[in-house]
Amino acid sequence: MTDVVSRSVAPGGTEPPALPSSIGDTAVQPDFLAAAPYRVPASRYTSPQFAALEAEKLWPAVWQYACSVDHVAAPGDAFECRLGRLSAVVVRDEEGQLRAYQNVCRHRGNTLCEGHRRGLSELRCPYHRWSWDLQGVLREVPSRRGFGALDMASLGLVPVAVDQFGPLVFVNFDAAAEPLDTWLESVPADTRWAGLDEFRCVAAATTPVPCNWKVVADGFSETYHVQGIHREMLGSMDDVHAPQQIFGRHSVSYQPYGVPSPRAGSDPSPGEVWASFRAVMGDRLGPVDDVDPRPPIPASGSVQDVIADRIKAVQAAAGVDLSRFSTEGILRLAQYNLFPNATLLVWGDMLNLLVARPGPTPETAELVSCAFTRMGRDTVRRPPLDLLRPPDADFGLVLNADVAVLKSMQRGLEQPAFTELVLSSEECRIVNFHRHLEQQLGI
Ligand code: FES
Ligand SMILES: [Fe+2]
Repeated sequence: MTDVVSRSVAPGGTEPPALPSSIGDTAVQPDFLAAAPYRVPASRYTSPQFAALEAEKLWPAVWQYACSVDHVAAPGDAFECRLGRLSAVVVRDEEGQLRAYQNVCRHRGNTLCEGHRRGLSELRCPYHRWSWDLQGVLREVPSRRGFGALDMASLGLVPVAVDQFGPLVFVNFDAAAEPLDTWLESVPADTRWAGLDEFRCVAAATTPVPCNWKVVADGFSETYHVQGIHREMLGSMDDVHAPQQIFGRHSVSYQPYGVPSPRAGSDPSPGEVWASFRAVMGDRLGPVDDVDPRPPIPASGSVQDVIADRIKAVQAAAGVDLSRFSTEGILRLAQYNLFPNATLLVWGDMLNLLVARPGPTPETAELVSCAFTRMGRDTVRRPPLDLLRPPDADFGLVLNADVAVLKSMQRGLEQPAFTELVLSSEECRIVNFHRHLEQQLGI
């Protein structure tokens, strides 16, 4: 392993594969075109009974994102994952194996581990100091004689299924769960080109938000709202020629950037495309103040190529060689919706994860947003920055609009006359989500 501060990359990944012709070339998904809209009961977003059903039948039975591999990279690392009411502690044991346990002390039920811990050789409850080794075996009970004949072997920590996909750690409270690899359906194969193992988590921010967790997840499951709350994106992102694919429980949207949307109105000039991209994703072009507001377009080039070349140059200056990727590999976003609550955004140079977790009531949730940077496959993983951010924090131009709409959505959903959501085939990933949610809940 090389401990690198500047990012040097051994090439991984190839070009993104061509999209299957069966999914069409627009966001209107052929398989979901229906004579009438899909309707979903609004009470799923407001009812305590529905939230209780999810607590009983959804969350304990699905693979869900817990933390990044960077959070638990070294032996003795432990990370507490609060997943709504559920809590798991993910641990890297002395042999380097990833393990996870229900985060509860088997004495009187205290939470065993809080926050991010490093250099542990045991998991010790702070209340009365019962202690387990990292394999979950109970090793020490203070003043044990007072318990009489205590069967230590029966009081091991309760394991939670744990596995990783690229730099993402997932857990499942169902001990009989299918393996993560098959749970993820075609997503690992579809992302292979991007070499996800090269990405390192640099920051993970948790934000309490005033809405149901599904309002958050829905907002990252369609591009229909770009024309509404992200109009600044229309100059540099084609939300119309953005085909969607349903794998099964998971789905994806492929979105071309560096080209204007047909919804932008009059045909934007290359200068307007450049300005839109600079405003929406300025950091990918380098520090915004350093980026020329006019595109340096040669007579024979396209603005999309100029943007992709600029991103490659920015990455090359940081030691990351992206020369193996074409313009499409850099500028076609693949946005995966991982059932039930995670959205993974894959680009050649960048990886982002957005996770919606339920709050203590149906009208509260947590948004977890994680930023990953491409580094060498052998680059030592370091603990990312964990942040707690208020909902009025500055998340950047686009995400600010997504967060701002959450509150007004929930207030609307609570109105007595609003009984059903009305969904188009352009919102097929939300429809697909609800179909699988129904299956999971036995509706
Ligand atoms: S509750 Fe953990 S040792 Fe008592
Ligand atoms: Fe959005």
